[in-house]
Amino acid sequence: MTVLVTGGAGYIGSHTVRHLLALGRDVVVLDDLDKGYASMVLDAPLVVGDIADEALVAKICAEYDVTSVIHFAAHKNVGESMAKPSKYWHNNVDGTVHLVDALLAAGVTNLVFSSSCSVYGTPEIVPVTEAAPIQPESVYADTKAMMERILHWYGVTSGLRTVSLRYFNAAGASLDNVIGEDWSQSANLVPVVMKAAMGKRPPVQVFGNDYPTPDGTCIRDYIHVEDLADAHVRAIDYLAAGGATVGLNVGTGIGSSVLDVVRATERAGGCTVPVEFVGRREGDPISVFADPTLVNSTLDWKPVHDLDAIIASAWRWHSTHPDGITE
Ligand SMILES: NC(=O)c1ccc[n+]([C@@H]2O[C@H](COP(=O)([O-])OP(=O)(O)OC[C@H]3O[C@@H](n4cnc5c(N)ncnc54)[C@H](O)[C@@H]3O)[C@@H](O)[C@H]2O)c1
Repeated sequence: MTVLVTGGAGYIGSHTVRHLLALGRDVVVLDDLDKGYASMVLDAPLVVGDIADEALVAKICAEYDVTSVIHFAAHKNVGESMAKPSKYWHNNVDGTVHLVDALLAAGVTNLVFSSSCSVYGTPEIVPVTEAAPIQPESVYADTKAMMERILHWYGVTSGLRTVSLRYFNAAGASLDNVIGEDWSQSANLVPVVMKAAMGKRPPVQVFGNDYPTPDGTCIRDYIHVEDLADAHVRAIDYLAAGGATVGLNVGTGIGSSVLDVVRATERAGGCTVPVEFVGRREGDPISVFADPTLVNSTLDWKPVHDLDAIIASAWRWHSTHPDGITE
């Protein structure tokens, strides 16, 4: 009865592994450490290897009695995906196909998949429901959309059941400050604001302050990484109880602007965040936040941490790990 966590040495995966262990679940991690860190896995067994290595996945399933999988492992840099698309098709799509073939051969049919709100591209209506059109605007986003379709067809043809969790903006660190995000790897807003606040980089560039939003800056839905971890465990339990394949928006339903994040950081750190207003960035949706009604009812899940709690945890983590994660 073990949960295999691919990418469990990465940011969201390591928080989920910790949450599973805290609940007394058996866990094994498969990660090639391309972006992850062995030190973030803490108390779970870590197998260093590639998800596309079917023989290795078969061995892990047999050795650890794997009954379900949470599949985080992927490349996730949107810009890189446009410069090196085949890197993303090979790892995110082909790698997942190899992983699932090995899982099915081992009789494992329950899988939670890390999808992304980027599958909706620029949504026409917010809050975004699962009924919104899937219209990815980058190679990265389309690898998530493609995988959701492929996993659907694995369900039809081979009995795989999948919960695709379409995350909004994961942020924050563990509340006990033991694990967090490696800001040297991340271009996400929260670590960028933290770095600027701590004088570790030039001012935060705010792309556009003339949008039709209350303060003129873009709006996103920030979700605490521990709330996200909780959603994964509930998704595993939903599948174990016989739940059907479903795609779910995992966000708080609350939109926060770029300047909301900046102000929350100033409150958490008692500092001034240097900001530079520059022009709008091509392709930036004005406002993206989730309608979490379906995930609330399907998984009986609700986030408990607000933006201030997210930012306070990120501040604690980054101020005590100013060089990122070092092994
Ligand atoms: N961070 C976000 O806000 C966010 C939002 C939406 C979706 N996601 C998705 O969530 C997942 C986890 O994101 P994260 O932020 O924790 O990223 P991350 O880069 O910290 O973690 C990904 C992990 O997967 C591992 N990995 C990659 N390819 C592998 C392979 N072929 N075999 C084995 N291990 C491999 C990496 O070493 C890394 O540890 C990704 O699939 C990402 O696309 C993240």
